[in-house]
Amino acid sequence: MIPSVIPADFSGVPKLTELASREFLAGLPKAELHMHLDGALSPAMMFALGQRNQVSLPYSSVEEIEAAYQFTNLQSFLDLLYQGASVLKREQDFYDLTRDYFLKCKADNVLHTELSFDPQSHTERGIPFATVINGILRAMDDAKKDWGISSKLVMDFLRHLSADSAMKTLEESLPWKDKIIAVGLDSSELGHPPSKFTEVFARARAEGYRIVAHAGEEGPPSYIWEAIDLLKVERIDHGVRSDEDPKLMEYLRETQIPLTVCPLSNVRLCVFDKMADHNLFALMDAGLRVMINSDDPTYFGGYLNDNYFALADAFPLTREQALLLAHNSFTSSFISDAEKQEFIDQLKNYAKNFH
Ligand code: ADE
Ligand code: ZN
Repeated sequence: MIPSVIPADFSGVPKLTELASREFLAGLPKAELHMHLDGALSPAMMFALGQRNQVSLPYSSVEEIEAAYQFTNLQSFLDLLYQGASVLKREQDFYDLTRDYFLKCKADNVLHTELSFDPQSHTERGIPFATVINGILRAMDDAKKDWGISSKLVMDFLRHLSADSAMKTLEESLPWKDKIIAVGLDSSELGHPPSKFTEVFARARAEGYRIVAHAGEEGPPSYIWEAIDLLKVERIDHGVRSDEDPKLMEYLRETQIPLTVCPLSNVRLCVFDKMADHNLFALMDAGLRVMINSDDPTYFGGYLNDNYFALADAFPLTREQALLLAHNSFTSSFISDAEKQEFIDQLKNYAKNFH
């Protein structure tokens, strides 16, 4: 289970084949590239905002919210995610939600994060686009000022809604074009293939946005091919069903298009029965560029470090593999090459000096 390609940055680093301890994983400098802000709303904040903003929820306590988080598939989770997100109304709510997530980044030594937001979950119920994005952007600025955490913003379209609605959202986003690094596609995958959004993504590319999309989480490998061929993605969110198509595996290995894999999410949404069945290391051993992400941390039982720990509990995760995952998290990000190199230097120093 040793990855086939370890970056030259780690040659000479001692004890690479040792199992990675929790301490080693916790302190590892890392980036997160697949995290939905609405999926970082804690039950406590949901309950408090529901009362404050007079949004009725079918729960009478925080404990009842937590108890409801039993999912059988992606849709069973999305129904609760969108219901929960309805408590967010004021710009300050979006700020507080984002600030809360950055606190966890600080605790998990996440040095850079690329946050996804779903404007349609809010604009569809009358919240202005500006209210949503201004709260998020202010928290991003403060996280940089207060803790030095760097971040970028990714705008996802809800694929269960129409292509017209996505196009309207794209047009609404244009005044903030220089604050949004990429557009993506999320929500109910089955029955909503990437081809539904070919024109929207062509326009997004023409406007200068970079492109990602959820594909191959529940959907078949053909959806991953569509995301590549039609949407022209630079990164695939999830992509764990790639291993059903040998040609696709070969293509992903050659092009090194990254897969933003989310282990706890995949188990909680029954993509895999248990963590020990996860194919992350099989993908890694096949030479694909993968890294770990939390997806919707407050719904799936953990932030980024919890995902590393859950993998280490189920697999003999070596320091070398952990370093490769963290390395991939930086190289797959949408920051400049110089910024990537700074983070990779920090990672190398960490590995050399860890005792
Ligand atoms: N929105 C939030 N999390 C998601 C996931 N795992 N898949 C699709 N849409 C999502
Ligand atoms: Zn996701």
